[in-house]
Amino acid sequence: MSAASDDDIDTAVDVLRHGGVVGLPTETVYGLAANASNEAAVRRIFAIKRRPTDHPLIVHLATAGQLEQWASSVPASAAVLAEACWPGPLTVIVPRAAHVLDVVTGGRTTVAVRVPAHPVANAVLQRFGGGVAAPSANRFGQVSPTTADHVRADLGADVDYVLDGGASPVGVESTIVDCTVTPAQILRPGGIPNEAIDRLLSGGVEGSRGPSRASGMLASHYAPRAQVEVFESASDVRRRADAVRAAGQRVTVLDATGDSVVVAQQLFGWLRRADDDDVDVVVALLPRATGLGHAIRDRLFKAAGLG
Ligand code: TXA
Ligand code: MG
Repeated sequence: MSAASDDDIDTAVDVLRHGGVVGLPTETVYGLAANASNEAAVRRIFAIKRRPTDHPLIVHLATAGQLEQWASSVPASAAVLAEACWPGPLTVIVPRAAHVLDVVTGGRTTVAVRVPAHPVANAVLQRFGGGVAAPSANRFGQVSPTTADHVRADLGADVDYVLDGGASPVGVESTIVDCTVTPAQILRPGGIPNEAIDRLLSGGVEGSRGPSRASGMLASHYAPRAQVEVFESASDVRRRADAVRAAGQRVTVLDATGDSVVVAQQLFGWLRRADDDDVDVVVALLPRATGLGHAIRDRLFKAAGLG
């Protein structure tokens, strides 16, 4: 799965230590990574992404044991979720430790933390030792990258180094759970299904059915140039696709109802391909709101510009 050699991993760690910015493979999507304790390095992430500075970043760690270094206290819900899901596609929001930079948290009293499961990300984090701030490695509002080529195509020479770890196996971002409130609240559905979070917290969680609420999760994220339209029924999809074709426009039908593991893996690649093929309208058939279907629906709604 991984194309990165030991030397490549050392190079990435060296770039991070010198305040550089690295395209980092994770199991969810590729991140744009910098030393979370280096303010100038973190500022470069915002500049490269053209991301507003009030959109806070996730701090990535090698082990769950490091959570205590980044949190002023660890809520019980965060401890349960971290124990069950890390390493893996889960982000917890916890009260921030005093040393955590404002540039990382957007000045909040909380910080987002996750321990990724990708072997290359984990090797980098182990050798680096500290926290690595990383949003998805795309320009603000655009489709997240799931391969090293996506990162190079989006950010090119703006990134100091891109580590190639193969295609991201999960394909959608981490599930974000705010553990600073009671009950805990799912802010963004992601690679860990909402039902699993609900089960782990014995029902003590909100938002497992609703749309994502993470700050910065505005409408028109994950958006390709093509117009994206979403439908619940196959007949509506067919009708709409025919109408678009009849109007002389290029249309692609994206059926997101197949095996949800495969759909999640491929989703961002499909949206990117639509742009490569100069498609005008992507007509998408939504999966059911269950399992990974929550995250797939969320990303398609956002791509369609619907909150
Ligand atoms: O899977 C992922 O989570 C990927 C990989 C690279 O780890 N990262 C990712 O980062 O998706 P990003 O920046 O694209 O999305 C992080 C989300 C943003 O919506 C941000 O607003 C939210 O997390 N967030 C970060 N810190 C927060 C905080 N303290 N409170 C509430 N939301 C927070
Ligand atoms: Mg993102």
